[in-house]
Amino acid sequence: MKGIILAGGKGTRLHPLTKVTNKHLLPVGREPMIYNPITRMTRAGITEILVVTSTEHMGEIVNLLGSGKEFGCEFTYRVQEEAKGIAHALALGEQFAGKERVLVILGDNITTADLGEHVRAFEKQERGARILLKKVADPERYGIAAIDEKRIIQIEEKPEKPKSDYAVIGYYMYDGEVFDIIRGMKPSARGEYEITAVNNAYVERGTLTYGVLEGPWTDAGTFESWQDANRMLIGEDRER
Ligand code: DAU
Repeated sequence: MKGIILAGGKGTRLHPLTKVTNKHLLPVGREPMIYNPITRMTRAGITEILVVTSTEHMGEIVNLLGSGKEFGCEFTYRVQEEAKGIAHALALGEQFAGKERVLVILGDNITTADLGEHVRAFEKQERGARILLKKVADPERYGIAAIDEKRIIQIEEKPEKPKSDYAVIGYYMYDGEVFDIIRGMKPSARGEYEITAVNNAYVERGTLTYGVLEGPWTDAGTFESWQDANRMLIGEDRER
Protein backbone atom coordinates (compact mmCIF):
# COMPACT_ATOMS: atom_id res chain seq x y z
CA MET A 1 0.00 0.00 0.00
CA LYS A 2 1.14 3.58 -0.72
CA GLY A 3 0.45 6.72 1.32
CA ILE A 4 -1.00 10.11 0.38
CA ILE A 5 -0.83 13.06 2.79
CA LEU A 6 -3.09 15.99 1.96
CA ALA A 7 -1.55 19.26 3.10
CA GLY A 8 -3.20 21.80 0.80
CA GLY A 9 -6.15 24.01 1.68
CA LYS A 10 -6.04 27.57 2.98
CA GLY A 11 -6.10 27.10 6.74
CA THR A 12 -8.33 30.17 7.08
CA ARG A 13 -9.72 29.06 10.45
CA LEU A 14 -6.22 29.54 11.88
CA HIS A 15 -5.62 33.08 10.58
CA PRO A 16 -3.41 35.00 11.24
CA LEU A 17 -1.22 32.01 12.25
CA THR A 18 -1.51 30.65 8.70
CA LYS A 19 -1.41 33.94 6.78
CA VAL A 20 2.15 33.32 5.58
CA THR A 21 2.76 29.78 6.83
CA ASN A 22 1.14 26.53 5.77
CA LYS A 23 -1.00 25.03 8.57
CA HIS A 24 0.89 21.74 8.37
CA LEU A 25 4.16 23.50 9.21
CA LEU A 26 2.86 24.94 12.50
CA PRO A 27 4.40 23.30 15.56
CA VAL A 28 2.50 20.55 17.33
CA GLY A 29 4.42 19.41 20.38
CA ARG A 30 8.09 19.41 19.41
CA GLU A 31 7.69 18.92 15.67
CA PRO A 32 5.95 20.46 12.66
CA MET A 33 2.36 19.20 12.34
CA ILE A 34 3.02 17.17 9.16
CA TYR A 35 5.55 14.94 10.96
CA ASN A 36 2.68 13.23 12.77
CA PRO A 37 0.90 11.81 9.68
CA ILE A 38 4.28 10.90 8.14
CA THR A 39 5.24 8.88 11.22
CA ARG A 40 1.81 7.21 11.33
CA MET A 41 2.47 5.97 7.80
CA THR A 42 6.05 4.81 8.23
CA ARG A 43 5.16 2.99 11.47
CA ALA A 44 2.36 1.20 9.62
CA GLY A 45 4.95 0.03 7.08
CA ILE A 46 4.10 2.52 4.31
CA THR A 47 7.22 4.08 2.83
CA GLU A 48 6.17 5.48 -0.57
CA ILE A 49 4.40 8.71 0.29
CA LEU A 50 2.89 11.45 -1.88
CA VAL A 51 2.55 14.89 -0.29
CA VAL A 52 0.00 17.23 -1.87
CA THR A 53 0.18 20.92 -1.02
CA SER A 54 -0.55 24.35 -2.48
CA THR A 55 1.68 26.24 -4.93
CA GLU A 56 2.63 28.90 -2.32
CA HIS A 57 3.92 26.40 0.22
CA MET A 58 5.43 23.60 -1.86
CA GLY A 59 8.92 25.13 -1.55
CA GLU A 60 8.82 25.20 2.25
CA ILE A 61 7.38 21.70 2.45
CA VAL A 62 10.12 20.29 0.22
CA ASN A 63 12.79 22.21 2.21
CA LEU A 64 11.50 20.65 5.40
CA LEU A 65 10.89 17.09 4.23
CA GLY A 66 13.45 16.55 1.48
CA SER A 67 13.71 13.17 -0.19
CA GLY A 68 12.38 11.25 2.81
CA LYS A 69 15.75 9.73 3.73
CA GLU A 70 15.57 11.22 7.21
CA PHE A 71 12.14 9.63 7.70
CA GLY A 72 12.97 6.22 6.24
CA CYS A 73 10.61 6.77 3.32
CA GLU A 74 10.50 8.20 -0.19
CA PHE A 75 8.49 11.35 -0.90
CA THR A 76 6.79 12.36 -4.13
CA TYR A 77 5.21 15.84 -4.33
CA ARG A 78 2.25 17.29 -6.22
CA VAL A 79 0.86 20.82 -6.34
CA GLN A 80 -2.85 21.46 -5.82
CA GLU A 81 -3.24 24.81 -7.59
CA GLU A 82 -6.60 25.67 -6.05
CA ALA A 83 -8.10 24.49 -2.76
CA LYS A 84 -11.05 22.75 -4.38
CA GLY A 85 -11.56 20.15 -1.68
CA ILE A 86 -10.12 17.00 -0.15
CA ALA A 87 -11.30 14.70 -2.97
CA HIS A 88 -9.83 17.13 -5.54
CA ALA A 89 -6.45 16.94 -3.78
CA LEU A 90 -6.69 13.15 -3.61
CA ALA A 91 -7.37 12.90 -7.35
CA LEU A 92 -3.87 14.28 -7.94
CA GLY A 93 -2.55 10.98 -6.57
CA GLU A 94 -3.90 8.73 -9.34
CA GLN A 95 -0.66 8.27 -11.27
CA PHE A 96 1.36 7.94 -8.07
CA ALA A 97 -0.95 5.19 -6.77
CA GLY A 98 -0.65 3.17 -9.98
CA LYS A 99 -2.17 -0.24 -9.26
CA GLU A 100 -1.73 -0.05 -5.49
CA ARG A 101 -4.21 0.77 -2.77
CA VAL A 102 -3.72 3.96 -0.76
CA LEU A 103 -3.85 5.14 2.84
CA VAL A 104 -4.86 8.80 2.77
CA ILE A 105 -4.21 11.02 5.79
CA LEU A 106 -5.42 14.58 6.24
CA GLY A 107 -2.33 16.55 7.20
CA ASP A 108 -4.05 18.23 10.16
CA ASN A 109 -5.14 15.00 11.86
CA ILE A 110 -3.02 14.16 14.89
CA THR A 111 -2.87 10.93 16.87
CA THR A 112 -0.44 8.83 18.86
CA ALA A 113 -2.28 5.63 17.86
CA ASP A 114 -0.80 2.94 15.61
CA LEU A 115 -2.58 2.55 12.29
CA GLY A 116 -0.93 -0.81 11.53
CA GLU A 117 -3.88 -3.02 12.53
CA HIS A 118 -6.26 -0.96 10.38
CA VAL A 119 -3.93 -1.13 7.39
CA ARG A 120 -3.69 -4.91 7.79
CA ALA A 121 -7.49 -5.24 8.08
CA PHE A 122 -7.86 -3.34 4.79
CA GLU A 123 -5.23 -5.49 3.11
CA LYS A 124 -7.43 -8.51 3.88
CA GLN A 125 -10.51 -6.80 2.45
CA GLU A 126 -11.28 -7.98 -1.09
CA ARG A 127 -12.17 -4.55 -2.48
CA GLY A 128 -13.61 -1.17 -1.61
CA ALA A 129 -12.63 1.26 1.12
CA ARG A 130 -12.13 1.37 4.87
CA ILE A 131 -12.52 4.45 7.07
CA LEU A 132 -11.84 5.17 10.73
CA LEU A 133 -14.33 6.55 13.21
CA LYS A 134 -13.94 8.23 16.57
CA LYS A 135 -16.55 9.32 19.11
CA VAL A 136 -16.55 13.12 19.42
CA ALA A 137 -18.20 15.69 21.65
CA ASP A 138 -18.89 18.18 18.83
CA PRO A 139 -20.28 16.15 15.90
CA GLU A 140 -21.46 19.17 13.93
CA ARG A 141 -17.79 19.91 13.04
CA TYR A 142 -17.13 16.64 11.17
CA GLY A 143 -18.34 14.09 8.68
CA ILE A 144 -20.71 11.98 10.82
CA ALA A 145 -21.52 8.31 10.18
CA ALA A 146 -24.94 6.80 10.77
CA ILE A 147 -24.05 3.20 11.67
CA ASP A 148 -25.66 -0.04 12.72
CA GLU A 149 -23.69 -2.86 14.35
CA LYS A 150 -21.94 -3.94 11.18
CA ARG A 151 -22.02 -1.21 8.60
CA ILE A 152 -22.20 2.43 7.77
CA ILE A 153 -25.58 3.48 6.46
CA GLN A 154 -24.72 7.02 5.42
CA ILE A 155 -22.26 9.83 6.13
CA GLU A 156 -23.27 13.46 6.47
CA GLU A 157 -20.77 16.31 6.26
CA LYS A 158 -21.06 18.73 9.20
CA PRO A 159 -24.74 17.95 9.91
CA GLU A 160 -26.91 20.37 11.88
CA LYS A 161 -28.68 17.41 13.47
CA PRO A 162 -26.05 14.65 13.74
CA LYS A 163 -27.39 11.07 13.58
CA SER A 164 -24.56 9.81 15.83
CA ASP A 165 -21.46 11.10 17.58
CA TYR A 166 -19.10 8.98 15.46
CA ALA A 167 -16.93 11.27 13.35
CA VAL A 168 -15.27 10.02 10.18
CA ILE A 169 -11.69 11.05 10.90
CA GLY A 170 -8.93 11.86 8.43
CA TYR A 171 -7.54 8.35 7.81
CA TYR A 172 -9.02 6.71 4.73
CA MET A 173 -8.06 3.57 2.81
CA TYR A 174 -9.12 3.12 -0.80
CA ASP A 175 -8.78 0.73 -3.70
CA GLY A 176 -8.18 2.04 -7.24
CA GLU A 177 -11.89 2.66 -7.82
CA VAL A 178 -11.60 5.87 -5.80
CA PHE A 179 -10.20 7.77 -8.78
CA ASP A 180 -13.11 6.74 -11.03
CA ILE A 181 -15.53 7.83 -8.31
CA ILE A 182 -13.91 11.28 -8.02
CA ARG A 183 -13.90 11.70 -11.81
CA GLY A 184 -17.68 11.27 -11.81
CA MET A 185 -18.27 13.80 -9.01
CA LYS A 186 -19.54 17.37 -9.03
CA PRO A 187 -18.55 20.04 -6.49
CA SER A 188 -20.82 20.48 -3.45
CA ALA A 189 -22.86 23.60 -2.60
CA ARG A 190 -19.74 25.11 -1.00
CA GLY A 191 -17.78 24.49 -4.22
CA GLU A 192 -15.60 21.61 -2.96
CA TYR A 193 -15.09 18.02 -4.08
CA GLU A 194 -16.08 16.36 -0.81
CA ILE A 195 -14.43 13.27 0.65
CA THR A 196 -17.79 12.48 2.28
CA ALA A 197 -19.35 12.11 -1.19
CA VAL A 198 -16.54 9.68 -2.11
CA ASN A 199 -17.18 7.60 1.01
CA ASN A 200 -20.94 7.61 0.38
CA ALA A 201 -20.28 6.27 -3.13
CA TYR A 202 -18.58 3.26 -1.48
CA VAL A 203 -21.57 2.95 0.93
CA GLU A 204 -23.86 2.68 -2.13
CA ARG A 205 -21.64 -0.02 -3.61
CA GLY A 206 -21.76 -1.91 -0.29
CA THR A 207 -17.95 -1.96 -0.04
CA LEU A 208 -17.22 0.52 2.78
CA THR A 209 -15.99 -0.96 6.05
CA TYR A 210 -14.90 0.85 9.19
CA GLY A 211 -12.75 0.57 12.27
CA VAL A 212 -12.76 2.65 15.44
CA LEU A 213 -9.48 4.38 16.28
CA GLU A 214 -8.37 3.59 19.83
CA GLY A 215 -6.23 6.20 21.57
CA PRO A 216 -6.03 9.98 21.50
CA TRP A 217 -6.92 11.83 18.31
CA THR A 218 -7.77 15.38 17.27
CA ASP A 219 -7.75 17.48 14.15
CA ALA A 220 -5.78 20.72 14.40
CA GLY A 221 -7.68 22.95 12.00
CA THR A 222 -9.09 25.43 14.51
CA PHE A 223 -7.25 27.34 17.21
CA GLU A 224 -8.86 25.25 19.99
CA SER A 225 -8.20 21.90 18.31
CA TRP A 226 -4.61 22.95 17.46
CA GLN A 227 -4.13 23.65 21.17
CA ASP A 228 -5.62 20.22 21.97
CA ALA A 229 -3.12 18.67 19.55
CA ASN A 230 -0.28 20.49 21.31
CA ARG A 231 -1.49 19.28 24.70
CA MET A 232 -1.57 15.72 23.32
CA LEU A 233 2.00 15.79 22.02
CA ILE A 234 3.84 18.23 24.27
CA GLY A 235 4.74 15.55 26.83
CA GLU A 236 5.78 13.09 24.11
CA ASP A 237 9.33 12.65 22.91
CA ARG A 238 10.18 13.73 19.39
CA GLU A 239 9.29 10.96 16.96
CA ARG A 240 12.26 11.90 14.73
O1 DAU B 1 -10.64 16.07 10.49
C1 DAU B 1 -11.65 15.21 10.01
C2 DAU B 1 -12.62 15.97 9.10
O2 DAU B 1 -11.85 16.52 8.00
C3 DAU B 1 -13.73 15.03 8.57
O3 DAU B 1 -14.57 14.62 9.64
C4 DAU B 1 -14.56 15.72 7.50
O4 DAU B 1 -15.49 14.80 6.96
C5 DAU B 1 -13.65 16.24 6.38
O5 DAU B 1 -14.43 16.95 5.41
C6 DAU B 1 -12.60 17.17 6.96
O6 DAU B 1 -13.24 18.33 7.46
P1 DAU B 1 -12.51 19.75 7.64
O7 DAU B 1 -13.49 20.83 7.49
O8 DAU B 1 -11.74 19.73 8.91
O9 DAU B 1 -11.49 19.76 6.40
P2 DAU B 1 -10.43 20.88 6.01
O10 DAU B 1 -11.02 21.76 4.95
O11 DAU B 1 -9.88 21.53 7.24
O12 DAU B 1 -9.27 20.02 5.33
C7 DAU B 1 -8.58 19.03 6.06
C8 DAU B 1 -7.22 18.79 5.42
O13 DAU B 1 -7.36 18.43 4.04
C9 DAU B 1 -6.32 20.01 5.45
O14 DAU B 1 -5.48 19.92 6.58
C10 DAU B 1 -5.55 19.94 4.15
C11 DAU B 1 -6.35 19.03 3.25
N1 DAU B 1 -6.97 19.76 2.10
C12 DAU B 1 -8.16 20.41 2.26
C13 DAU B 1 -8.73 21.09 1.19
C14 DAU B 1 -10.08 21.80 1.35
C15 DAU B 1 -6.28 19.79 0.89
O15 DAU B 1 -5.18 19.20 0.78
N2 DAU B 1 -6.85 20.46 -0.16
C16 DAU B 1 -8.05 21.13 -0.08
O16 DAU B 1 -8.52 21.71 -1.08
